[in-house]
Amino acid sequence: MRAAYFTKLQKALAAADLAEPVLLLDRQRLDKNIKQLKRMLPKNMAYRIVAKSLPSAPLLKHIAAKADTNRLMSFNRVMSEQILAAMPKADQLLGKPLPVAAAAALFDGLAAVKGKQAARQMQWLVDTPTRLKEYEALAAKLKLKLRVNLEIDVGLHRGGMMPGPDLEAALARLAKSKNLSLAGYLGYEPHLSKIPNIGGWRRRAKQGAAQAYGAALAQGRAHFTAAHIEGMVRNMAGSPTFGLYQDTALANELAAGSALVKPSDFDMPMLKDFEPAAFIATPALKVSQEVRLPALEYASKMLGKPKTGTGIFIHGGYWMADAVWPKGLKTSGLFGRSSNQEFLLGPKNLPLKPDAFVFLRPTQSEAIFLQFPKIAVFDGRRICDIWQPLPVSA
Ligand SMILES: Cc1ncc(COP(=O)(O)O)c(C=O)c1O
Repeated sequence: MRAAYFTKLQKALAAADLAEPVLLLDRQRLDKNIKQLKRMLPKNMAYRIVAKSLPSAPLLKHIAAKADTNRLMSFNRVMSEQILAAMPKADQLLGKPLPVAAAAALFDGLAAVKGKQAARQMQWLVDTPTRLKEYEALAAKLKLKLRVNLEIDVGLHRGGMMPGPDLEAALARLAKSKNLSLAGYLGYEPHLSKIPNIGGWRRRAKQGAAQAYGAALAQGRAHFTAAHIEGMVRNMAGSPTFGLYQDTALANELAAGSALVKPSDFDMPMLKDFEPAAFIATPALKVSQEVRLPALEYASKMLGKPKTGTGIFIHGGYWMADAVWPKGLKTSGLFGRSSNQEFLLGPKNLPLKPDAFVFLRPTQSEAIFLQFPKIAVFDGRRICDIWQPLPVSA
């Protein structure tokens, strides 16, 4: 089954005249993963696409259409600008707080009409009362109403506000601000699936996160109407945790990105029904049944015999990825890593011809997608499209 799958991919790539490293995206598997994610969402739960983990405009549009959502999470000014241009109707929630100068630069780059529209599409994540003040000054200067989403620390301790005095100060300022509106809360909690499940630790952390988010919502109700707090964006989760939610009592939308292509860092019980949908495909430039380590012929006999197996040099390499096909390919400590022509050692008599494709599975998607100018889209039979990644941004 695996052999048949990769043989099909090899044929499709060759038929598309591809002869360089590409990111291969299996659209059937992606679509199945989207369905699976939707199936796991509780009733009335909205879904927000984590753009940094799926950084390609046509890919984001495809997912938005299939998953029937216009909610995206972006992570830096350039990415936000790219999404504003590619998907002008998408609602964009920043996944991290940006220096106010970055927000100012985004508006500087837009004509007045577009600036107004951007102000309606963007939710700026704010983590402290100080940053809130800075965004208020920017909004006043721009004569725009900016939408603010408050980062709530529910136990990850990556910053944000816990229920308490800082949140109180932020809510009080928002409630009387003419230039800012409260668009929602964000409480990210990926640690809940990572802390060891021993002695009730994970269960207590989960309860703690729910309590913190609940208390932050209660604090919000002291400054805004219950309907406002109920109806605003109440964002939580990521790929490792969206499966933990059974109703919309706390969160009314869940974010996830990586799960849809499932790189190997996401091989976890929660995502067992998701399939890997992105691979690096690269030609094996040289295939040899004789593994000759550098200068071994000049070494003393102490070093032992030459290695047996199939030695291959691939086009490119040193990616955050592991070879998955043909089976048994490994990097070699003796040759070291190379971004130009990486050496992989395989079992004896590997039936691989020079220029045939080798497949690697990324460990994560966000950096890997940006490293390949071509995303080859496989529809189950052939390469049906070539997509581009978003231009690199930090
Ligand atoms: C705020 C926030 N939400 C959600 C996610 C989840 O992304 P993914 O589903 O790709 O793990 C991230 C990832 O870093 C994040 O920072």
